[in-house]
Amino acid sequence: MLIQRLVGITKDEVIEWRRYLHTYPELSFQEDKTAQFVYDALRTFGDLEISRPTKTSVMARLVGSKPGKVIALRADMDALPIKEENDFNFVSKNPGVMHACGHDGHTAMLLGTAKILTQLKNLIEGEVRFIFQHAEELLPGGAQEMVKAGVLEGVDEVIGIHLVSTVEVGKIGICHGAATAGSDTFDIKIKGRGGHSSEPHLTVDPIAIGAQVISNLQHIVSRNLNPLEKLVVSVTKFHSGSAYNVIPDTAVISGSVRSLNPEIRQRIPNLVKKVVKGVTEAHNASFELNYHFGYSSVINNDRVRELVEEMIIEMLGSDNLLRLPALMSGEDFSAFSDERPSCFIFVGAGNQKKGIIHPHHHPRFTFDEDALEIGVELFVQSSFKLLGIESSKKLNKSSINFH
Ligand code: NI
Repeated sequence: MLIQRLVGITKDEVIEWRRYLHTYPELSFQEDKTAQFVYDALRTFGDLEISRPTKTSVMARLVGSKPGKVIALRADMDALPIKEENDFNFVSKNPGVMHACGHDGHTAMLLGTAKILTQLKNLIEGEVRFIFQHAEELLPGGAQEMVKAGVLEGVDEVIGIHLVSTVEVGKIGICHGAATAGSDTFDIKIKGRGGHSSEPHLTVDPIAIGAQVISNLQHIVSRNLNPLEKLVVSVTKFHSGSAYNVIPDTAVISGSVRSLNPEIRQRIPNLVKKVVKGVTEAHNASFELNYHFGYSSVINNDRVRELVEEMIIEMLGSDNLLRLPALMSGEDFSAFSDERPSCFIFVGAGNQKKGIIHPHHHPRFTFDEDALEIGVELFVQSSFKLLGIESSKKLNKSSINFH
């Protein structure tokens, strides 16, 4: 098949791009060199309308020979503040910064896809838009900035890929409905009245009250709400006091909320508030609650997901298509899936035999580069599938000029 041949030809280049990006990782909102690298590479492909929607993002449009739908393919480009502990010959040269989530691979795969589809331009009916997004790892996230900058204008559907080291290479995972969790945080300040530790009856003790707030927050999951709702409320910080013999004035409690159901998600701030208000009132304290909504849940659209699944089965056989449960991690692809029918695909990139077993965000994280080829083919085939172009028939008839 022609697509496979083209992917094969581009494979080494995709690996080379990935290794370059891995060597020079940049943190969220600081992807200046990465974005320039992507921009320069795209310019060599020809026939693309390239723009910079924000300071560190890049978009390229491939407008086909005939009118049709517009689909967008998305890759994120940022790295993490982690000190790399790998020992291969392309480890990070930026101290304390590492591509520990595979975004180097995502960017390289989307570049490869852009190169291949540009060569197939005469077959494209409609438009393919390549979105190279900055800052997935840091709130408020780059995706929503790009949406605000108008990258989805005229777009019908969006596809995103994430490499996953916990799924073996050769397999592809898809979630039905929610793919990642809504990830929100909260800060509660309990305001009591401090005093001497020997006279607690003269104080309003924010530590004792805070302890009760924490236990009562545990009732939200499975007491206030159905235990079958996929929801996590975790208190992750409790700060107060600084001396053995002083009851402090205040205590600060912070935590994280993960949820898969958008309606339930909206109800949580009120439930947290009820708990804090009830407990503090009972003990004559007052409170401040700040609840921050983070990334919403990535939701796969059934129709788009079914088309993608059909295509994966054609590509790799049904044995290699896994239905995955939603991840409780957050992902700002949701800024796109909130706006347009979308599908977020998990491409297996782990390999037990090669020792590629570390989870994402680990200092020894890496992925099997064989997954890159699969990702590129998946992006290319999804484009044809979603644009409604029968790739195999037309591709075999056409003649292609390799650049
Ligand atoms: Ni990631």
